[in-house]
Amino acid sequence: MPHRRATFSKFIIENMRRQGGQDADLASLLNDVMTACKLIAAAVSRNPLDTVGPGATVPNVQGEEQKPLDRIANEIMLEACEYGGQLCGMVSEEMEHPARIPDGYPRGRYLLVFDPLDGSSNIDINMTVGTIFSVLRAPVGVTEPTTADFLQPGTAQVAAGYALYGPVSMLVVTLGDGVHGFTLNRDIGAYTLTHPNMKIPPSANEFAINASNARHWEPPVRRYVEECVEGKAGPRGADFNMRWIASMVAEVHRILIRGGLFMYPRDTKDVSRPGRLRLMYEANPMAMLVEQAGGAASTGRLRILGIAPTDIHQRVPVVLGSRDEVERLVNYHAAYDRGEDTRFEAPLFNARSLFRSA
Ligand code: F6P
Ligand code: MN
Repeated sequence: MPHRRATFSKFIIENMRRQGGQDADLASLLNDVMTACKLIAAAVSRNPLDTVGPGATVPNVQGEEQKPLDRIANEIMLEACEYGGQLCGMVSEEMEHPARIPDGYPRGRYLLVFDPLDGSSNIDINMTVGTIFSVLRAPVGVTEPTTADFLQPGTAQVAAGYALYGPVSMLVVTLGDGVHGFTLNRDIGAYTLTHPNMKIPPSANEFAINASNARHWEPPVRRYVEECVEGKAGPRGADFNMRWIASMVAEVHRILIRGGLFMYPRDTKDVSRPGRLRLMYEANPMAMLVEQAGGAASTGRLRILGIAPTDIHQRVPVVLGSRDEVERLVNYHAAYDRGEDTRFEAPLFNARSLFRSA
């Protein structure tokens, strides 16, 4: 009975009631985020019919390619969330500094941090992209937040989620009480609850990593991947499958549905960058979702949600997914750091390498 499914708005209000309180500001903020996600879903599905043509790609603050749709998605999020009076500032992957709430709009108690269009290298090839968001409380009394006011650990998140723009559009959220997935029903223009209480299986034989970086990985990551690739005959005693979509939203969604491990670990490709993914608007919201679904999220050495940020655009290594697999990789890091495991010191291109030629 599709019409009996709870809409996102109804679910949020009832969920807050169940948790023993109702925060009208948070409910309306999440509604505004939802509206932005619908508008971005529409923009993504029109692309490339009416977006700007060639030459419009420019570098963003991170030195990465910023596509027209990155800018459009950013504008949509800002415009949908700035007027309602629930926020006093926003941080986006696409802006160097926090965005001010324009004069004339009331200021609220919350901060919104987001990646407006994650995985945007997939836009040109018509593959899944998404929006990631995190809600924090503004420090008491602050109405014009500075960068420092955003630098809160992931454990301080009040809510987190992502929208996925794939064959169907979905919105997956947590308010600290489980993870719930909503599917955009285009007939009625509403997200309705299709995946209540999502749970990540504790173990799974599937991993995701960009293997083109193999030569730059640290030994514990080499060990993990090589043991998976050795399959039934190796120490894991099981065959593993690998996936790499190059869109974090899509990878995390797969893990929430069927488990597995997703890694963008620390590597030595560019030593000035401790990882590829950004802590505040990629790693933290995804880590909250994954932990709320019974999984784990680590840098390989530290719990992601415990990290005290020092920069709004800071990068971290990310290892997340099925609990047993994350724990295994954390144990491999610990053993290596204690000097107990040196077998994988050598580059992978050796006799027992992942990439051996014969
Ligand atoms: O935003 C960063 C991101 O696009 C993620 O969505 C994705 O997991 C990763 O980068 C892909 O990186 P690479 O291009 O190195 O495979
Ligand atoms: Mn991203």
